[in-house]
Amino acid sequence: MDADEIQSAPSIPLVQGSEGKEGSLSGHVSVLPHEVISYLNPRDGQTIIDATLGVGGHSLLLARAVSPTGQVIGLDHDQNMIARALPRLSGLPFEAVHARFDMLPEILKSKKIPGVDGLLADLGICSEQLDDGGRGFSFSRPGPLDMRMDQSRGQSASDMVNHYSEYDLADLIFRYGEERFSRKIAKYIVHRRGERRFEDTADLAAVVRRAIPKKDPSGIHPATRTFQALRIAVNEELAVLEGFLGKLPEIVKPGGVAVIISFHSLEDRQVKNTFRQSEYWEILTRKPVMAGELEIANNPRSRSARLRAARRVDPNQPKIYKGGKYR
Ligand SMILES: C[S@@+](CC[C@H](N)C(=O)[O-])C[C@H]1O[C@@H](n2cnc3c(N)ncnc32)[C@H](O)[C@@H]1O
Repeated sequence: MDADEIQSAPSIPLVQGSEGKEGSLSGHVSVLPHEVISYLNPRDGQTIIDATLGVGGHSLLLARAVSPTGQVIGLDHDQNMIARALPRLSGLPFEAVHARFDMLPEILKSKKIPGVDGLLADLGICSEQLDDGGRGFSFSRPGPLDMRMDQSRGQSASDMVNHYSEYDLADLIFRYGEERFSRKIAKYIVHRRGERRFEDTADLAAVVRRAIPKKDPSGIHPATRTFQALRIAVNEELAVLEGFLGKLPEIVKPGGVAVIISFHSLEDRQVKNTFRQSEYWEILTRKPVMAGELEIANNPRSRSARLRAARRVDPNQPKIYKGGKYR
């Protein structure tokens, strides 16, 4: 992404408070809370979807704003996150659904909701998921090589690392991790598993570290990109996101707003292209909105957050196709 493509958000303090129901728990801190509220503009009586509930920080703000007659429906495909979020949202007009967000058209149909006023998707994972060594998302916490968001189904990272061909591993690490040493890493993985299966995250992180030349200019932990790639592949994140983005016009009613926050360029590109190339959306953020300095200082994870928002176009006022774009 070009630097001039980035629209910087003003430095706005995070939701305050360090305990109880407020936004700043000791773990996950919701990113860009003021910007989310400002684009969605939730009001009493509205129906809003939080497609990625997490620990419920954004849902809490939204549910308060649509009270008392509106409702927020929060989805997460990780049952553990729903269990964490629910106590914070008690007493508010909120309902949790354990599902992947690309199931939303079916979910709304079953609830007889023809379209919602607003939708938020804050992609990726929560600090709680990353910090739980038992889930296998983090190279810095020893744990089983799992990485499934929904632990009730699908292949784990261990299945991929221990069984994929060297070519497929290199391809996956390159494509989803944008890792330039992907071939070397895949070669080291395949060599090592010939002696002994990979069982845990620390084991894999050590082999990746050995495969990468000592002077990687990026300065990030050598296993960062490989772990990101495996997580994306295990959860089929890009394919699920693409399906979900394509279904957004069925979910958000004309006049309603969709806000999507992504954390890496592969996701952000998909969001940008969906809003730009579809006749259904009027773009509200010409450039992605990013956290200001104050938010980044309080919440380092917000550094890579990119927010894009668009309004669902009213079919009675179609967009005009001009200069290769819908305007
Ligand atoms: C970054 S966290 C969201 C944090 C939340 N906005 C908050 O304020 O607490 C992302 C959450 O979305 C969930 N998630 C990611 N992809 C999903 C998908 N395809 N369907 C449903 N939930 C998903 C993850 O399990 C995680 O809990």
